[in-house]
This record gives sequence, C-alpha cells and structure tokens, in this order.
Amino acid sequence: MPAFAQRAGGMLTERQIDGIASGILSRWGHEQVLGGANPPSYAAKSVANADHGQLVCGTYCASCHGSEGGGKAKGSAITDDSFLALVSD
Ligand code: HEC
Repeated sequence: MPAFAQRAGGMLTERQIDGIASGILSRWGHEQVLGGANPPSYAAKSVANADHGQLVCGTYCASCHGSEGGGKAKGSAITDDSFLALVSD
C-alpha cells in the first residue's frame, strides 16, 4: 500500500492517523477478537543473512521485481522506504 502519512508523502495528518488507529483498536483491539486462534509471531527468530536473502530474491523475486527490487514490467518496486519501514530484517 502507498504511505498514508503526510510525513511519508501521503494525505493524512498525524491527528487523522491517530483517529483511525484509535478506531481500529476500539473495534478489534481485544483478545476475544481472535476467537482462541494463536497466530504466529511476526518477530524475527534469527539474525538476518543478507547473502542468503540476495540468493533467494535473485531466484524467486528478480524475474518480476528486478535484480535490485526496483521494479520492472511484471512487478513494481519493493524497495520503497514506506514499505521497508513495515518489515524487519
Ligand atoms: C511472477 C511475478 C512475481 C514474482 C516472481 C514475485 N512477485 Fe511480488 N508481486 C508481483 C505483482 C504483480 C505484485 C502486485 C503489485 C505490483 O504490481 O508489483 C507483487 C507485489 C509484491 C509486493 C507488494 C508491493 C507493494 O507495493 O505493496 C511485495 C512486497 C512483493 N511482491 C515481494 C515479492 C517477493 C519478496 C518475491 C520473491 C520471494 C516476489 N514478490 C516475487 C509479482 C511477482
């Protein structure tokens, strides 16, 4: 998704983002919302290995997103700062 925050080039003010986040938390921010499901953690369980990542990306991603992840006809760029801010190493 493109960035929504004005500070990242989007159209929403910090106050508007706080309002949306507040609404999401009040609607879905309680333990019962998962109905007993136990989703996996998104926290990394090991240290990143850039060499392995480069090999995997070159094998499985580059044909569509380009060798540097900058995008090409079959897939857009996956190196956008806003996107990368959402993921861990
Ligand atoms: C067969 C083509 C193809 C391959 C291979 C592929 N993708 Fe994609 N990917 C796409 C398309 C099409 C989209 C939809 C958005 C776009 O046009 O780029 C997408 C979207 C994404 C997005 C979301 C981008 C955004 O702006 O929200 C990410 C992240 C991504 N791919 C990562 C990867 C990774 C990592 C790999 C390798 C493990 C990979 N993709 C392999 C075609 C591909």
